Order: sequence, then structure tokens, then C-alpha cells
Amino acid sequence: MHPPLLVPSILAGDHARLADSAALVERLRLPWIHLDIMDGHFVPNLTFGPGTVAALRRNSRLFFDVHLMLDEPHRYVEPFATAGANLISIHIEPGYDHAATLAHIRQLRCQCGIVLNPDTPAAAVEPHLDRVDLVLVMTVQPGFGGQSFRRDTLPKITRLAAWRRTRGLRFRLEVDGGIDLATAAECRAAGTDTFVAGTSFFGAADPAAFAAAFAQLA
Ligand code: DX5
Ligand code: ZN
Repeated sequence: MHPPLLVPSILAGDHARLADSAALVERLRLPWIHLDIMDGHFVPNLTFGPGTVAALRRNSRLFFDVHLMLDEPHRYVEPFATAGANLISIHIEPGYDHAATLAHIRQLRCQCGIVLNPDTPAAAVEPHLDRVDLVLVMTVQPGFGGQSFRRDTLPKITRLAAWRRTRGLRFRLEVDGGIDLATAAECRAAGTDTFVAGTSFFGAADPAAFAAAFAQLA
């Protein structure tokens, strides 16, 4: 299993000063930042598009973990790759050619991830496990930051971690939504290695102290 990685979500950063929010993450020597892309259809909220990601790319050397919450992600992987994404994750729920889209992301020289909503069973992504770099388990219903962690997703994390172990796979297992020190510890015990944190990081009185406390996670 990979060592625990804290991935701040810029959704909870300052949207008038996104480059400053990214710079804070870089200063704390956290290598990744999570970028949430919402289309107002797959989720009832909107964020930003490839133009903003490209602008951020010119101001940041961080690894861009791009989470597409879109009904038609296959139409947008290329613009986000061109904008500077390093990893692009797509949801399993909408109907499109998931395998072809994952292959396309790879062709674009990005890592690829598959995402499941809280009520989507692990079996839905099982056919894709040997072709992804990351599986993202949503631990809240996607669309908004600041929601409470869904503890009922823990058995699914345990199952995915078991499949990873028994099949000799190496994908990262990422959680997203309601992650703080306590819920991260529960997810770690279930097999998670990659932890998205929006509110708990950017909303912390002292994000550096939060990151230091996170680093103690066994
Ligand atoms: C929610 C997004 C998350 C969000 C998490 O739809 O996918 O990445 O930023 O926010 P917190 O950590 O506040 O739950
Ligand atoms: Zn996200």
C-alpha cells in the first residue's frame, strides 16, 4: 500500500485567488492538489473549466488530480489533459464507453482514475481495476464541500483494498468528502492511501498544523 497522501481540494480554497491556494499547498511540500470539475448536470453545482486549469498550471508545479463530475466526461478529457492535468478521474455512473475513455486518458499521457458515488457498489468498477492508476471512492454525494462523511462507504473501501491485494494490483485508493483526521484514520484502516481534504485543510485555522497532524497517520 502507498504511504498516506494528503490531497487538498481547491474547491474549499479562495476562488478569487486560486493560485495562492495552490501556492500554500506547494509551500507545505504536499505534492498533489485536487481539482473538482462540475457541469451542473451530473451534480447540481458548477465550478470551473480547462481555461482555469491551464491558468493554474502556469502558476503551479503541483500534480493536478482532476476529478470530473460530468455527464459526458469523454468529451472533455482532451481539453483537461492539454490544460495540464496529471491524473484525470471519471465517474462510472453515467453511460458512455468507460474503458475507451480510460484508454484515451492514458494516450494523452495522463494517469487515469475511476470514481464511484457512495451508493454505487464496488462491483461496478471491478472490470476496470487492472487498467486504472486510482480508484476514487466518494464518501459524500458529490457536488458540494463541507458535507458529513458517509461511514457506510467503509465496507466498499475494504472490498476494493482486498481485491487490490489478492489480484496484485497497484492502483491508489482515494477517498473524497468529509475527510478530517478522524475519518481519515478510519479510511486508512480500511485500506485508503490517498485522502482528499477540502474544508478540513483550507478551513483549518492553521493548515500547516493540520498537514503535520495528518502526516502522523500510520
Ligand atoms: C465534492 C468534491 C470534493 C470536495 C470535498 O463533490 O468532490 O472534492 O472538495 O470537500 P470536503 O473535504 O469539504 O468534504
Ligand atoms: Zn473531488
